[in-house]
Amino acid sequence: MGYTNLKFDSGTLFLVTGGAGFIGSNLCEAILNMGYKVRCMDDLSTGKQKNVDIFLGYPNYEFMKGDIRNLDTCMCACKGATYVLHQAAWGSVPRSLEMPLFYNKNNIEGTLNMLEAARQNGVKKFVYASSSSVYGDEPNLPKTEGREGNLLSPYALTKRCDEEWAKLYTRFYGLDTYGMRYFNVFGRRQDPDGAYAAVIPKFIKQLMRGETPTINGDGRQSRDFTYIENVIEANLKACLAPHEAAGEAYNIAYGGREYLIDIYYGLTKALGVDVEPNFGPDRKGDIKHSHADISKARKLLGYDPDYSFQDGIKLAIEWYKENL
Ligand SMILES: NC(=O)c1ccc[n+]([C@@H]2O[C@H](COP(=O)([O-])OP(=O)(O)OC[C@H]3O[C@@H](n4cnc5c(N)ncnc54)[C@H](O)[C@@H]3O)[C@@H](O)[C@H]2O)c1
Repeated sequence: MGYTNLKFDSGTLFLVTGGAGFIGSNLCEAILNMGYKVRCMDDLSTGKQKNVDIFLGYPNYEFMKGDIRNLDTCMCACKGATYVLHQAAWGSVPRSLEMPLFYNKNNIEGTLNMLEAARQNGVKKFVYASSSSVYGDEPNLPKTEGREGNLLSPYALTKRCDEEWAKLYTRFYGLDTYGMRYFNVFGRRQDPDGAYAAVIPKFIKQLMRGETPTINGDGRQSRDFTYIENVIEANLKACLAPHEAAGEAYNIAYGGREYLIDIYYGLTKALGVDVEPNFGPDRKGDIKHSHADISKARKLLGYDPDYSFQDGIKLAIEWYKENL
């Protein structure tokens, strides 16, 4: 269960790209707490300096400001790294629809640079962030690897391309790659601000400030919201996965299904406020329902998520109450 009992060789160095972001900074923290070395590489484009500053006192932590669009930078970052946990990318489906060229450069070329740099530096395992958006308009639930539909956004395309590049690097260049298809991750340090903020931190902050949140659509959309601790477990278990499991992408979720409207009222109750939401139009590129089959990750990575949505949301609310 969990990941804190996982053992890596002493002297192991983890390179976390996008380590100043939500998921990356949580990976850095978990690895440091387990006593291993972390190099965080980030260009601070959507990440936060404060997510770096909190770790600067740790002797095992190194921060490198750099852009994955630059191959030389990626080469420097991968030097001496045992494992790469590649999280750097721009998220957000609607923003990608506005900036397709940037997403192609940042998320696809950037990932290709990282794969090449990892290969040239003899990295042991390359674990990277993919996304449930690769399922596109495939209507069947639960979402199962190998049954993907037509893509609905440039963002989803970048993640699908990353998976194909990674598979190819495993097949032709012998780099063990493992794709993490995250499903709506939430938890501490997820950014509540901005037009493209994720719904859980955004609603928590708005409700705490007495503002009225807007739900896109009717609120009857459902998602497999996944607590950050489960994502950390998946990444670290992938580092220890056998070669036979490489060159594949895996659903990383809890395997549950929550309706947005229920989450909304759960939050109002937990925060002790009585505010009815506004309802806005559906968001372009959004799917109605998402629910993961996690049996592949269970079987091949030994992934066994500990935190249900209810466990996670309690911890997330506590964190935002203390930190907002
Ligand atoms: N949060 C989710 O629910 C979710 C779901 C599916 C997939 N993902 C993927 O997981 C990864 C991490 O997501 P997150 O939620 O932590 O996002 P985030 O925006 O908090 O973190 C991404 C980090 O990558 C950095 N970055 C972006 N472009 C870069 C570049 N060119 N060079 C160096 N650094 C760069 C940003 O500055 C940021 O710190 C992303 O690849 C994202 O697409 C996240």
